Formats: sequence, structure tokens, C-alpha cells
Amino acid sequence: MESLKGKTALITGAGKGLGKALSLALAMEGVNLMLLSRTKEDLINVAAESSKINPGIQTDFKVADTANFASVSAAISDLTKTLGPVDILINNAGIIKFGNFMNLTVEEWEAVIRTNLLGAYYCIHEILPGMMERKTGDIVNVSSTAGLRGSPTTSAYSASKFGLIGLSESLMLEARKSGVRVFTATPSTIATSLTKDIGLTDGDPEKVLQPEDFAEMIIAHLKLSRRALVKDVSIWSTNP
Ligand SMILES: NC(=O)c1ccc[n+]([C@@H]2O[C@H](COP(=O)([O-])OP(=O)(O)OC[C@H]3O[C@@H](n4cnc5c(N)ncnc54)[C@H](OP(=O)(O)O)[C@@H]3O)[C@@H](O)[C@H]2O)c1
Repeated sequence: MESLKGKTALITGAGKGLGKALSLALAMEGVNLMLLSRTKEDLINVAAESSKINPGIQTDFKVADTANFASVSAAISDLTKTLGPVDILINNAGIIKFGNFMNLTVEEWEAVIRTNLLGAYYCIHEILPGMMERKTGDIVNVSSTAGLRGSPTTSAYSASKFGLIGLSESLMLEARKSGVRVFTATPSTIATSLTKDIGLTDGDPEKVLQPEDFAEMIIAHLKLSRRALVKDVSIWSTNP
């Protein structure tokens, strides 16, 4: 297993849920953190918790909207001025809008596609050239089991997550030749505000997947020898 100590990770959607769990788990590994989401208070809290877990790491954050290229580009430019190049990019920011196809508005569709799919593209656009030049780097794209199969009321979300898998797999085949690993995660239901708000994860916490489980899985893959690339992985509850 490779050590992640001293590397720098940019995590989108770092303010809560999976992004927060990933940030805290990376802090424990000695990884410097660039945190990005739209709610400043959440980022302040995650930065403080991370520094408490590991006072040896550097942490910075920027309020930014992954649905907006100018916002993402400015945030990444500022963060890399302070903390240097990004070794690990985790495209995690995401939203979901439920509704039958014709009940979702054009604005809702656009927001989901911009945040979940274009947001990942924008971050990769800004960070990949440096990784290619340095011939190393890891990009984790957080899709969903909703990116593997459609279901009623999630047309926009599924479209964004299917799209992200297409982006991720295509980029993986290009970037591996330059030593950059691109990895797609397709988690099943995990207890975060995204799922709690709709009562999907009210069950026994011993049985329902928790954000920490997801973070542990991602860290294990990032620590694999650089000769090994995990293309994609689904994580499920053992017995929900
Ligand atoms: N939880 C699950 O069961 C599950 C399953 C499969 C896949 N996923 C995926 O996992 C990722 C994380 O989900 P989660 O469950 O942790 O959700 P969550 O608890 O709602 O957290 C989402 C995070 O993303 C940020 N975010 C949302 N829109 C953003 C934007 N436009 N720009 C920047 N940041 C934004 C949110 O902060 P702000 O609102 O403050 O910006 C928040 O920090 C998502 O991509 C989701 O689709 C989750």
C-alpha cells in the first residue's frame, strides 16, 4: 500500500455527507485538503474538524458552485496558489431532484446536469493538465447506482450519473497512459442528508451504509500501488 501523506486533495461537495467523510478520512491519512462547496459555515466546520484530526496538514476552502465554470475555475486557481498542485481530485458534489419526467422543470434538469455532470467536467478541465504534466494523479468521480440503471422519478439525476460514468470511463482510457488514474464510484444508498430527507436511510445504522464506509473504500483504492488501477466500484449494504 502506498502512503497518501503529504499529497493534496481537492474535494467538491466537502461540506457534508460523503464529501465531509472523505475529507476527514483523507486528513487522517495526512493529506492536505482543498474543500469546495456553496455553504461557507459547512466548510469552516469541516476544515476545523480536519485540522483537529491531523494538525500536521494544511487545509483551505473556497465557496464555489460546481454548476458554474467561472466559479470553479477561480476557486481552483486560488486554492492551488496556496496549497500547490492537486494530486487527488474527488468530484463528489451532487444534487438530486425527484419528480415524474414532465413534473421536473427545465431549470431543475439544467441544475442537476450542470452540478453533477458539467461540474465534474469543469474541475477535471482545470486540474487534468497539471496531472498529465507531472505524470501522476488520481481522479475519483462519484456517480451512483442510479448511473447504472434508470428508475421512475429520477430521470435528470440518472442522466447526470450515466453521463458521468461515460465521461469517467473515456477519460480513464486516455489518462492512464500518462500515469493518471481515473476511478468511478457507483454507491448505493448511504445515510446522508441527500437520502435522509426522503426517508431512505432511517433504518438501523448497523445495517444502513454510512459515509465513513464509502470514505474507507475510496482511501483503500487510492492507496493501491500506482501500477494498479481500479476502473469502478459499487458499494452496497450487506443486508439492508
Ligand atoms: N447518499 C447517497 O445515498 C448517494 C448514493 C449514490 C451517489 N451519491 C452521490 O454522492 C455525492 C455526495 O452526496 P451526499 O449524499 O453526500 O449528499 P449531501 O449530503 O447532500 O452533500 C452534498 C454536498 O455537495 C455540495 N453541493 C451540492 N451542490 C453543489 C454545487 N452546485 N456546488 C458545490 N457544491 C455543491 C453540498 O453543499 P452545498 O449545498 O452547500 O453546496 C454538500 O456539501 C453526490 O454526487 C451524490 O449524487 C450519494
